[in-house]
Amino acid sequence: MSKPSIFVTRALPGDPTPRLREVANVIVWPHDEPPPHDELVRRAADSDALLTMLTDPIDAAVLDAGKRLRLVAQMAVGYDNVDVAAATECGILVTNTPGVLTETTADLAFALLLAAARRVVEGDRLTRTGGWKSWHPSFLLGQDVHGATLGIVGLGQIGLAVARRARGFDMRILYHDRTRHPQAEAELGAEYVSLDRLLGESDFVSLHVPLASQTRHLIGQRELSLMKPSAVLVNAARGAVVDQQALCAALKERRIAAAGLDVAEIEPIPVDDPLLTLDNVVVTPHIGSASVATRARMAEMAVESVLQALRGELPSNCVNAEAFSRRKQA
Ligand code: DGY
Repeated sequence: MSKPSIFVTRALPGDPTPRLREVANVIVWPHDEPPPHDELVRRAADSDALLTMLTDPIDAAVLDAGKRLRLVAQMAVGYDNVDVAAATECGILVTNTPGVLTETTADLAFALLLAAARRVVEGDRLTRTGGWKSWHPSFLLGQDVHGATLGIVGLGQIGLAVARRARGFDMRILYHDRTRHPQAEAELGAEYVSLDRLLGESDFVSLHVPLASQTRHLIGQRELSLMKPSAVLVNAARGAVVDQQALCAALKERRIAAAGLDVAEIEPIPVDDPLLTLDNVVVTPHIGSASVATRARMAEMAVESVLQALRGELPSNCVNAEAFSRRKQA
């Protein structure tokens, strides 16, 4: 019997592919840039599993082409780039890598919060370009983080990890989510409030919701107008959760103080994007989970999902278990 074929859309950190090569023919896309869409379609047609990144649009065209495709193993916790409904329809399993990147992503969200609040990147830029002329009592004044109110939108694993960090800074924690989390309320003193109240009362607003139709542009012009002029917005979730044009206007007109963003509506954000002309925004290139250890764990986890699916098992991190029963019935 011939070995199954796996297409991996980027070289993986820690290279866990030898485990795959024992049981499958593995092709790794050799470039740093993502494979073009037509390449994904072609590869899907020849593969039993795809190991994908958040930059790979796994849409109906790719899934339809994958006549023998059993699995799309996404190396990310977010999988808004995968048409899960279409995958389920075709009996194709979709997996993600939850848990292993929680703390690392929360570290980055908190780093952005601190950097935007205390104007760290702006200070670095000024220092390098001769802008540090003298110590002045009004030079580069920012916002205090300790003792401030943090509003967390989406109290999933990453939101909770950010809340735990905030406790160390004596912050008051408000949160908004689809459901209440009594345990977090008890352990972290987090208070459940409406989104509007959270926006109005928070000094810092940190977004931790997945991107879905209900969360696209969750933070738009109206929501930004509810925030304090001294408030800082942090987004380490997905760019499209925020209406970036509205955010840019709010930052430019100083209707909010600053933003720390690890994500953008279009990634990479074009270098001529108006947002990048503003001093009161810190932007990082979607590096929330980018630590050596975490990226290796994510790659390992995605590989494990492929191995489980090839053994005919339901992978532990399957997001559409329904596809498994569909495949079994077929
Ligand atoms: C994810 O996993 O969804 C992050 O955005 C990238 O690691």
